[in-house]
Amino acid sequence: DDVTENIKNIALIELGRNRIEPWYFSPYPIEMTTLPCIYLCEFCLKYVASEKCLARHLIKCNLRHPPGNEIYRKDSISFFEIDGRKNKIYAQNLCLLAKLFLDHKTLFHDVDPFLFYIMTEFDARGFHIVGYFSKEKESADNYNLACILVLPPYQRSGYGKVLIEFSYILSQFEHKIGAPEKPLSDLGLLSYRSYWSQAILEVLLSQVPVENEERPSISVKEISECTSIRKEDVISTLHLSNIIKYYRGQYIACITPEIIEQHKRSLEKRSVRIDINYLRYEPKE
Ligand code: COA
Ligand code: NA
Repeated sequence: DDVTENIKNIALIELGRNRIEPWYFSPYPIEMTTLPCIYLCEFCLKYVASEKCLARHLIKCNLRHPPGNEIYRKDSISFFEIDGRKNKIYAQNLCLLAKLFLDHKTLFHDVDPFLFYIMTEFDARGFHIVGYFSKEKESADNYNLACILVLPPYQRSGYGKVLIEFSYILSQFEHKIGAPEKPLSDLGLLSYRSYWSQAILEVLLSQVPVENEERPSISVKEISECTSIRKEDVISTLHLSNIIKYYRGQYIACITPEIIEQHKRSLEKRSVRIDINYLRYEPKE
């Protein structure tokens, strides 16, 4: 049943230079669950039972980055696009790793319908995985993200929002409006709310007054088109961030100096931003 199934079964993982304590159950083979630690190749994500096995594996494994195409690189940040059908083993190993930090069930075997976008940080030893998101190749509901993960050692440094930003930029390239698949975890929702309010404020604050108009005006639809954020998400964000006010029979955006000040401070914290000039991406039709 659900309760026992979600009991943590892996004590510890070693991934590159990090030792990470899992949060949740993940369906690794039973023989892995009795060990004090399992060892993952940080490039191909293969898991083995001991340090010795890992050393042996690393002699054969020539990867120094995730498989797939590098579709973005700026400074030390890269994104690799992986097709679940073409790199099935990698995708399955990635899903196993991700499940350690995801409360709800995810798919493990049927990775074919998904693309995976792996974010890495580069140094002299290679391209180290920081996090990823997955995306259905074709989504009837226009979802632009299925699962998102930032590995715990990298969390709370703004990388979650970098992944989210990337997912919306891909939607912009596809001329589509997108949204994350539900349900989102608590942490996922916090990250999205923060991303949405910053993206929407950037659009609102870039509006310049038009002659003869008391104040610049922009519709929810236009905000949605500029950002690829779904209209419902734009509206809920405007309400939650107290930007929208009902005034003399209509809704108006009211951006107080406090909101602007807070927005500036938040942007200063986002040291990594996606620069579309460094994206090499062809939307698939
Ligand atoms: N407690 C409180 N707020 C948190 C938080 C925490 N533990 N983690 C993130 N946040 C908030 C941050 O405050 C930030 O907002 P702010 O900049 O306005 O303060 C916002 O969420 C995004 O933070 P960021 O550093 O970009 O996120 P992250 O790199 O930590 O990644 C997740 C966010 C959701 C990807 C990460 O927590 C994760 O991988 N969780 C496990 C997997 C998961 O739940 N995925 C979502 C469901 S599919
Ligand atoms: Na951190």
